[in-house]
Amino acid sequence: PQTLYFTRHGESEYNVLGRIGGDASLSPRGQLYAHGLADYMNALGQEPLTVWTSEMRRTKQTAADIRAAKRAVRALNELDAGICEGLTYEEMQERFPQEFAWRDQDKLRYRYPWGESYIDIMTRLRPVLSALEDEHNVVVVGHQAVLRCMLGYFLDAKLDELPYMNVPLHTIVKLTSYGYKYKCEMITLPI
Ligand code: F6P
Repeated sequence: PQTLYFTRHGESEYNVLGRIGGDASLSPRGQLYAHGLADYMNALGQEPLTVWTSEMRRTKQTAADIRAAKRAVRALNELDAGICEGLTYEEMQERFPQEFAWRDQDKLRYRYPWGESYIDIMTRLRPVLSALEDEHNVVVVGHQAVLRCMLGYFLDAKLDELPYMNVPLHTIVKLTSYGYKYKCEMITLPI
């Protein structure tokens, strides 16, 4: 059967600070996850394994030690938070209270000024999702919002639930095809 693996990048320096977006590097803990992920994937002995990352530093660093062909895919980049890139949620609430309230009211459709909404991500992901459906043994190293959209698609989640799906750091989500649906397993690596 077809197996697809999804994981967020390891913890980044911005995750530690609670900052939105950016292009930070992995924290020391995130580096440990990158090593653990590589050990796990390299031990599977599944060939040919392909790794798709975003164009961002933190996903490339997370995938670095996996022995496989790698592709950096622009459409896998994290939600563009526009004028709120680099802020914490508290700073966003102080500086842009109206934006903060709007996002809270309709997180799915809310588009950051000069940035994107979850719906925008789904639109740009469409070609990637169809391509993935034809692949075997792909590891996608992505980001929180983008992975919510991807997993929601494969697992048939309701659109309104997508922005709240739990996709924790340092966890591998393994999807295995089962008829035309997918079975989902969560694998938490001890790091
Ligand atoms: O905080 C990490 C992050 O990937 C941000 O870059 C992104 O804006 C956010 O998560 C998406 O999550 P939420 O939609 O819950 O703000």
